Amino acid sequence: MSILEMQNCNVFYGKAQALHDVSIIVGDGEIVSLIGRNGAGKSTLLKAIMGLNPIKSGTRKFEGRDVTNATTEMLGRSGIAFVPEDRRIFATLSVDENLRIATVMGRKGPWNLERVYNLFPRLKERMNSRGDTLSGGEQQMLAVGRGLLTNPKLLLLDEPTEGLAPLVVADLIKAMELINAEGVAILLVEQNLKVPLKLAKRQYLIDNGHIRWSGKTDELLAEREKIEALISL
Ligand SMILES: Nc1ncnc2c1ncn2[C@@H]1O[C@H](COP(=O)(O)OP(=O)(O)O)[C@@H](O)[C@H]1O
Ligand SMILES: [Mg+2]
Repeated sequence: MSILEMQNCNVFYGKAQALHDVSIIVGDGEIVSLIGRNGAGKSTLLKAIMGLNPIKSGTRKFEGRDVTNATTEMLGRSGIAFVPEDRRIFATLSVDENLRIATVMGRKGPWNLERVYNLFPRLKERMNSRGDTLSGGEQQMLAVGRGLLTNPKLLLLDEPTEGLAPLVVADLIKAMELINAEGVAILLVEQNLKVPLKLAKRQYLIDNGHIRWSGKTDELLAEREKIEALISL
């Protein structure tokens, strides 16, 4: 079964069309990647999934139910969590306070503070540090941890590894694998294939607001250059 199904979605900013007939499916418990260069429409699609960008035409289904008209709050309560590109950490709150705020959403499930600290030991070490003193990697862990505390069924990650050192990226990849092993589906947005090829079995390539290619990672690897050229990476 699919957890998320976006069908023929069209999204506009004013008169400018940012997404053209975009369809994307995430299977239950699956990791799927959405790859495209800067300005391709990746964040626009994640925001449309989360109800933050209105869908002018097209449909959204979550767990088989039509939720095209659901609000962001309803989608959050249904089990979608969005970790935005800019991470939105509260600068003047400590790591621990940033995390505790997220527990207020109150969906029941396996994730709690202790488990998030086990997943990211670095956050535990820094639990009393202010948000604005964190490194990029720590901020990203905090943003993911906060998403997990809402006990999502689907986690939307917008360029989680952008600008991070290789060792930190490796830690995040491990964390994403562990999160997924707990049954959380992940839609991973990235600007290049590096992390997606390691994590996802299926890929969507987007350019100029159009899905240019979708398929299995094996198929992509078999014709990598040809397919990469479709989105001018
Ligand atoms: N709030 C906005 N208002 C107007 N245009 C926007 C807005 N956000 C994004 N865009 C435009 O929509 C297109 C897709 O942007 P975006 O989804 O942010 O791309 P990506 O996340 O792939 O880098 C770009 O042309 C961008 O300039
Ligand atoms: Mg973006």
